[in-house]
Amino acid sequence: MIDQTRLPYELHWIRLSTCDQAAEAIRSMLIRGAPLIGAVAAWGCVFAVHEDSSDAHLQQRIRQLAATRPTAVNLAWALQRMQHRLLGLPPEARLGVAVAEASALCAEDTAQNLAIGKHGLRLLQNIHARTGVPVRVLTHCNAGWLATTGWGTALAPLFLARQAGLPLQVYADETRPRNQGALTAWELAGADIPVLYVADNAGGHLIQQGLVDLVMVGADRVSRQGDVCNKIGTYLKALAAQDCGIPFYAAVPSPTIDWTVQDALQEIPIEERAAAEVAWVQGRTAAGGIMQVQVVPEGVACANPAFDVTPARLVSALITEHGVFPATGTGMAELRAHCQA
Ligand code: MRU
Repeated sequence: MIDQTRLPYELHWIRLSTCDQAAEAIRSMLIRGAPLIGAVAAWGCVFAVHEDSSDAHLQQRIRQLAATRPTAVNLAWALQRMQHRLLGLPPEARLGVAVAEASALCAEDTAQNLAIGKHGLRLLQNIHARTGVPVRVLTHCNAGWLATTGWGTALAPLFLARQAGLPLQVYADETRPRNQGALTAWELAGADIPVLYVADNAGGHLIQQGLVDLVMVGADRVSRQGDVCNKIGTYLKALAAQDCGIPFYAAVPSPTIDWTVQDALQEIPIEERAAAEVAWVQGRTAAGGIMQVQVVPEGVACANPAFDVTPARLVSALITEHGVFPATGTGMAELRAHCQA
């Protein structure tokens, strides 16, 4: 895995080979992003079976992995899938099946993201056909290949647009406090896609000035009525998009939809992370080292809610591997039928 806490300053690879390491990597955000959290949790189950293939051990490890982060549903989804696949088997048959299931889960994620990319590309092409100038996209957090097993969700259409020669201008919100926007800028710059890194609070102004054609974000959990729970700050971008009449899209692979949740505001647990993430900022020094500096007066308390909910009424549509669906009753029913097919 790439250690995402050192990006964009250093590309440092880490090897995860125990369930404890997988759980700690998720908890500490060495790896992050909803689909990747699910994938690493699935491999955590493989390590658990390798350690001890008994029911009791696997169930205890699944509880450990499930407790690492509460909001992205991909974690619980992947663990349920692994548990369901493994517990019915004799312990000696579990390891090979666990490897095959975790591998399949990762391959499916990459394929879903590529399909999202193709559907999203058509939306971008339609805008370009209308305007004839570079398509201007605002994105929040990081929903690129770093956050998944491949392609990314909200960034997949952008990578395909670049390949297709479609001109783009992307605004990447910094996404305080963990600055996932810097990961987005790193991915996009690496793919030769024009990107401007902007302060979180710039989004509303840019939209109001007519500098943005659409907002496109990923998601950590989507409710069955189409509410989008995503990185803190997403809701404010959706409000600005609605006020100024531009579309707000969430790119969502089907494992990110929690059909058991109706009203995301009431039902999705919002992760509260450490105050130190707000009080301290990490960056690279002129000498090249990575350093943390305090930006809040000593003794001042900080709150750090990591996600927010954008109600379905502010979401123009969900871009999924099955196509683009409005976040309305009819759209969600149609999407559910595709997911169950
Ligand atoms: O806290 P993080 O960095 O794991 O949060 C990530 C996000 O909110 C992403 O936007 C979301 O997981 C979509 S990733 C394809």
